[in-house]
Amino acid sequence: MTIKLREGAPGARLLGLGAYRPRRRVTNDELSQVMETNDEWIRTRVGIAERRWAAEDETLVEMAVAAGGKALAASGLSPDQVDLVVVASASLRAPIPGIGPQVAHRLGVPRPGSFDLNAGCAGFCYAIGVAADAIRTGSARHAIVVGVERLTDVTDLNDRATAVIFADGAGAAVLGPSDEPEIGPVVWGSDGDQYNAIEIAAGSSTMTMAGQAVYRWATTKLTDTLVEAMDAAGVGPQDIDVFAPHQANLRIVESMTKRLGFGERTVVARDIVQAGNTSAASIPLALTALLESGEAKSGDLALVLGFGAGLTFAGQVFRLP
Ligand SMILES: CC(C)(COP(=O)(O)OP(=O)(O)OC[C@H]1O[C@@H](n2cnc3c(N)ncnc32)[C@H](O)[C@@H]1OP(=O)(O)O)[C@@H](O)C(=O)NCCC(=O)NCCS
Repeated sequence: MTIKLREGAPGARLLGLGAYRPRRRVTNDELSQVMETNDEWIRTRVGIAERRWAAEDETLVEMAVAAGGKALAASGLSPDQVDLVVVASASLRAPIPGIGPQVAHRLGVPRPGSFDLNAGCAGFCYAIGVAADAIRTGSARHAIVVGVERLTDVTDLNDRATAVIFADGAGAAVLGPSDEPEIGPVVWGSDGDQYNAIEIAAGSSTMTMAGQAVYRWATTKLTDTLVEAMDAAGVGPQDIDVFAPHQANLRIVESMTKRLGFGERTVVARDIVQAGNTSAASIPLALTALLESGEAKSGDLALVLGFGAGLTFAGQVFRLP
């Protein structure tokens, strides 16, 4: 006898986005009071003007619930319509249990499939790929995907090259079925030969980064992935309204924008200037900011790409909710 499969939806789409930015803003000048650095170096090397640092009460779960709740409200769904919750994070301090089930519970979602996903700064795009495929194959009907980080928990303030870059925050998306595909295929991969370019080594509590190796990798290897993501969705650069790569470093964002030939017509996310590098949270944070400011609008076609520790990468094209 053959095993029966579920019938999924013809496509998946984003129904709502939400974000949470920690209360405390930390400027470059403030950092220069506690470490050997200065505003000019930080702005020219990484393009960051300020970042948010989470307070003690702004835990991973609290921030994930805040962002997820806003995305849920924006989607118009009630929690009991959700049957999958995926939390992407690279800064979980306790491996057991994962925080997905707790986040889902706090959002009032009854008994969803739920898990954490760690693909470094690529986590949000990996999770969107997984959730969209789950909807298309019938494993889920509606999903919440959250990217949440407290990178300040794992940053060594004595390591000025990482301490000025990494920050905290959360972003979330709600996904559901659609007759026409509104989320393109995920293009994902990894370059494990550079597995330790960004790492918290076993027994250590802080992150180290081979900054120049990561910079070289991001600016040379990932343009092809962006082109592949557009090809997979059957669109070209001329169709892209919003380009929102992971907000790792403004110079990487500018390099990718130039290599892809995006001109005035395409809005480019530069949320890193205000938010710093928030890893798995950076893309939904950036998209939410663009929608709130009116630079992007509902229905726009966005190209996103997450990349980071692993080294991992994942990108796709989707329509903004
Ligand atoms: C991290 C990064 C900004 C460092 O820039 P860099 O040009 O490679 O810097 P280096 O580490 O070679 O250091 C250059 C000099 O700046 C100094 N420096 C490093 N951090 C500094 C800081 N925050 N403020 C002032 N000076 C700093 C170094 O000590 C060094 O000084 P020296 O020449 O006197 O020895 C850069 O490598 C980078 O952006 N990499 C990509 C990182 C990234 O995007 N990671 C996220 C991936 S998810």
